[in-house]
Amino acid sequence: MKRDPTRPAALAALAFCALALAGCGGNQNVLDPHSHPERRIATLWWVMFAVAAIGFSVVVLFLFLGWVRRNRDRLPFGGGESAAVGMVVALGIALPIVLLVSLFVYSDLFVLKSVAAPRPGSTRLTLEVTGRQWFWEVRYPGTKAVTANEIHIPVGTRVNLVGKTDDVIHSFWVPELNRKVDLIPGQTTRILLEADQPGSYRGQCAEYCGLQHAHMAMYVIAQPPAQFRTWLAREAKPARPQQGSPSPGFLAFNAENACSGCHTVRGTNAHGDIGPDLTHVASRLTLAAGTIPNRPADLLEWIRDPQHVKPGAKMPNLDLTDTQFREIATYVEGLR
Ligand code: CUA
Repeated sequence: MKRDPTRPAALAALAFCALALAGCGGNQNVLDPHSHPERRIATLWWVMFAVAAIGFSVVVLFLFLGWVRRNRDRLPFGGGESAAVGMVVALGIALPIVLLVSLFVYSDLFVLKSVAAPRPGSTRLTLEVTGRQWFWEVRYPGTKAVTANEIHIPVGTRVNLVGKTDDVIHSFWVPELNRKVDLIPGQTTRILLEADQPGSYRGQCAEYCGLQHAHMAMYVIAQPPAQFRTWLAREAKPARPQQGSPSPGFLAFNAENACSGCHTVRGTNAHGDIGPDLTHVASRLTLAAGTIPNRPADLLEWIRDPQHVKPGAKMPNLDLTDTQFREIATYVEGLR
């Protein structure tokens, strides 16, 4: 039996479409808007998709007609040479110009305005996000709260996000809430962050920034305002002081050449500024900028062998005993 040579190609095309569509689903979906600016972006996407799809269909139709009537002297719809020139000018030059100008005006007038940086004074809350290789540092000016890879905001509130970078260019992007915004050395950028429904929205660095660019995710967590205020008040507090004599994990964490050289735990002598602030790390959803879930077994693995979990990360593999790693993990799990 002879195999149909078109079958593998058709299967590959189907698999590609399925994969491409799967990429649109999941928990980062540009077409599932949860804010006013993102709804405008999603609508623009559908408008452009419709125009492109109609244009493509018309081109394919003409190609098909041309092929069917390939041996005739006359045009598909009749007419001579001047009619052919007229059709090329109308459909090939005039129509694309009209369509592209209309799309430009539509996106410029309706979409760019609503995704622009918020006007000063038009927001109720400002927060600062700094891109660092490879995590996001999050500060709430006016409070002592510093966190990483998790941006809590009150739902239904316009938030002015001020973006900076500490090293190379990163790009802050939460697809369900707004467009991408580049974080450029020496500059501050601003973008409006708001969410109409409570929930957690995954975001991702969208500009190649080195080895672990793909592991530079963050979550925006939109909460009812009262819940947000409770979270912020707790986040601003220093770590709970050690009761009685310090635990072995606390001592190992703060030993020379150990964790405190790079990390801060507010309320203790750990003042490092290379890695994320760990004051309330145990209450976060993920570790290593969204790379692994924040569960005790994953935390231990991360502390014991960070270069395996996130190769190239600035967190070195420490030369400690298994007991010391476990003690440090127990201490870190207590940082709520
Ligand atoms: Cu930061 Cu890519």
